[in-house]
Amino acid sequence: MHTPVLKKEILEYLNPEPNQNFIDATLGEAGHSLSVLEKIKPNGKVLGLELDPQLYSRLLQLHIDRLTIVNDSYVNLKKVVKKTKIKSFSGILFDLGFSSWHVEESKKGFSFLRNEELDMRYNKKASTLTAKDIVNEWPEQKLKEILKEYGEERFSGRISRHIVENRKEKKIKKTFDLVEIIWKAIPSRYRYQRLHFATRTFQALRIATNDELNSIKKALPQALSVLEKRGKILVISFHSLEDRIIKNYFREESKKGLIKILTKKPIRPSQEEIICNPRARSSKLRVAEKI
Ligand SMILES: C[S@@+](CC[C@H](N)C(=O)[O-])C[C@H]1O[C@@H](n2cnc3c(N)ncnc32)[C@H](O)[C@@H]1O
Repeated sequence: MHTPVLKKEILEYLNPEPNQNFIDATLGEAGHSLSVLEKIKPNGKVLGLELDPQLYSRLLQLHIDRLTIVNDSYVNLKKVVKKTKIKSFSGILFDLGFSSWHVEESKKGFSFLRNEELDMRYNKKASTLTAKDIVNEWPEQKLKEILKEYGEERFSGRISRHIVENRKEKKIKKTFDLVEIIWKAIPSRYRYQRLHFATRTFQALRIATNDELNSIKKALPQALSVLEKRGKILVISFHSLEDRIIKNYFREESKKGLIKILTKKPIRPSQEEIICNPRARSSKLRVAEKI
């Protein structure tokens, strides 16, 4: 079960009132949306987008009142909004990345602790590129770059070299094949750190497979355009590159006088939240209001 990150802060900034409507651009397991729906009773609605068809089906089965669920990417936000009957939105939330369900249940290779096919696509129809393709086909230099940039992996060079050497012998198919390669690639004293040694490589592959950074760049202007005046845009990110994209976008739009930035510095989770939900530890929330 996914525990929503920064839930209290999200509610404070969104400040949902009865009968207002909102967009949840990354519905996941609807944790944030359920608490918003409670506040916008009796007639307020949430339009939720979820790219993963399996998560989408699970959500449909819950029959949540006043929640419209669409199986599409936030890259297509404007089109999705055009098709709905809801015309005015007081806020939009992006909670980037994957949900606990992806790690624990999807069987798509998101977890380095489970031996699964290395796929990592949120939506198999939306993209043909898999994590398996990346590790078996991309040139060493390109692998090194994504591990360094998207994973902030200090051993990006050693790991990518080992990947390329190993794939000459045998195709890398499963998560554990990759975990073993990373294990051998890194110096032995780094194998037992607090953060699992495969975390950063897996993060980089997930971001690259789903083209996550370009997707958020494409979605932010659409988010702004579908909001009503004084509508809020809230983004929770988990990676410094994501956060920089949001920070720069907000800064540019604020210079043009189109938004007011409500968080001069990103909001971070409290120590209590990190203890209860370690996944929250790298989260950052930025909020802006449409002028
Ligand atoms: C961190 S989870 C959201 C969790 C949610 N806020 C909750 O409380 O349950 C992010 C979700 O966004 C979905 N997602 C990722 N990229 C997406 C995209 N481009 N468009 C729509 N959903 C996306 C993922 O499948 C995942 O379920």
